Amino acid sequence: MNVALEQPKTQRLSMQVATVAAETTAIRSLDWDRDRFDIEFGLRNGTTYNSFLVRGDRVALVDASHRKFHDLYLACLQEQIDPTQMDYLVISHTEPDHSGLVPEVLALAPQATVVGTKVALQFLADLIHQPFAQKVVKNGDQLDLGQGHILQFINAPNLHWPDTMATYDRKTQVLFTCDIFGMHYCSDRLYDEVLADIAPDYRFYYDCLMAPNARSVLSAMKRMDELPPPVLVANGHGPLLKHHAAQLMQNYRTWSESQTKGETLATVFYTAEYGFSDRLSQAVARGIAKTGVAVEMMDLRSADLQEIREQVGRSSALAIAMPPAGTPAETAVTAILGSAHSKQTVGFFESYGGDDLPIDVLANRFRDLGLPLAFPLIRIQDTPSEALYQLCDEAGTDLGQRLTVKKTVAQMKSLDVDLDRAMGRLAGGLYVLTAVQGARKGAMLASWVAQASFKPLGISVAVAKDRAIETLMQVGDRFVLNVLAEGNASGLMQHFLKRFAPGADRFVGVKTQTLASGQLVLSEALSYIECEVSQRLEANDHWIVYAVAVDGKVANPDGLTATHHRKVGNHY
Ligand code: FEO
Repeated sequence: MNVALEQPKTQRLSMQVATVAAETTAIRSLDWDRDRFDIEFGLRNGTTYNSFLVRGDRVALVDASHRKFHDLYLACLQEQIDPTQMDYLVISHTEPDHSGLVPEVLALAPQATVVGTKVALQFLADLIHQPFAQKVVKNGDQLDLGQGHILQFINAPNLHWPDTMATYDRKTQVLFTCDIFGMHYCSDRLYDEVLADIAPDYRFYYDCLMAPNARSVLSAMKRMDELPPPVLVANGHGPLLKHHAAQLMQNYRTWSESQTKGETLATVFYTAEYGFSDRLSQAVARGIAKTGVAVEMMDLRSADLQEIREQVGRSSALAIAMPPAGTPAETAVTAILGSAHSKQTVGFFESYGGDDLPIDVLANRFRDLGLPLAFPLIRIQDTPSEALYQLCDEAGTDLGQRLTVKKTVAQMKSLDVDLDRAMGRLAGGLYVLTAVQGARKGAMLASWVAQASFKPLGISVAVAKDRAIETLMQVGDRFVLNVLAEGNASGLMQHFLKRFAPGADRFVGVKTQTLASGQLVLSEALSYIECEVSQRLEANDHWIVYAVAVDGKVANPDGLTATHHRKVGNHY
């Protein structure tokens, strides 16, 4: 066994300040090495936390930064402005990456009025524990800073918390969007000059954070459409969108329309700012979204009971993160119970918030109503690990697949018979893809694989969108293509064709070897090719992954590759 031990990285943090429009300054906190974020999706390119100063006759700071930038950010801010001269602190969203330093900023600028949605100011009050001047704003409200800088607020709930809003400066046509239109991508480049560099991260960020809220994306974009198109999207993460803003915004619309066209809806109920409820819910929602089922997340803390009842009425499946006991969120769960019916399916997971409603008690109450469980109860004994987030993602996919199975079978039957048989004559080899990222592991049987380039040597492989391993095959990720041997493939085929429970270790009972990169090779494979993902092409229900081969070996030079012949083209 040959395992490479990685040296711990030194965290590189730096600041970037630039004028991005008239009287508008970006203060960007560059977090070069951050490799985990909200739902523990692997970050390959770090991230940034962007905040902005707008100076009219009055001065507004839009968002702050993460606490890890305490010294750097506060020094930088004070170089730009005397905080006692700041009039407003606009809070787009209260997650710690945007609002972590709000208490410190307010300590330096106690005269500043905090501007935000009603929910944001409620959340902030829980964080700050001391009075502060505040101004609640609603969609369409304006704040005149003087010198033409009229800030107009756009309600954007669920993007990605119920507290979120965007802000549009009518003078500069800069749209401050916080999480919306962001990406986890850290570089010295202030703007989106090279689309190809950022496109994979932009899409991955959307898939993880926004796809579970696609309906809310479309609603917020409709409100944005009422304003002149922005010349600059001043997002909260990554390079600002200037050169390709229209296209990148349109991408959100296209992806969200595709995400919401599903006829069935699943809702994930969570409690914002409680334990890991939000992050785990995102992982479940992302898993559901992969199956093409429309998914929405709803916060039990801020939604009203009638809203919740209506949401349950529209949903074919419900996933519920345990709320804190004895709070309005628990009352909200009672409202779900009152509206649920036996044609729905349901799943439960703990929030690890310290005061969770007992999961068994709640699950039994739904069971008594006749609702089947979509996945086993997810109990959490410790701070959620990468493997647990993967489990939640896969549980969501199981839930989604339960809803789509009938439709999928109907689609298979509706194929043209001749075309179906003709497609069935496409043959392929038999392979097992394996991928490892930290504690997360994945494997799947594959046969839609082909060599795709000579220089460099590269392959293409089609991976269904609802395959668990898909998450581990983003641009820059490594995986291994294990080539199965003729005459020795049936055991491995049977093993990897099994339906695995969410989070199950696919490698139990299979002999493997570990490469220096940490990737796993099947010991019985005829050969293996270690690959690095270079590009992904969206092909409706599959991703076509193009990957460059970086290493490989043949166990038996005389062996032949196992092949797969089909009769019809409507399934594997
Ligand atoms: Fe970037 Fe939802 O925080």
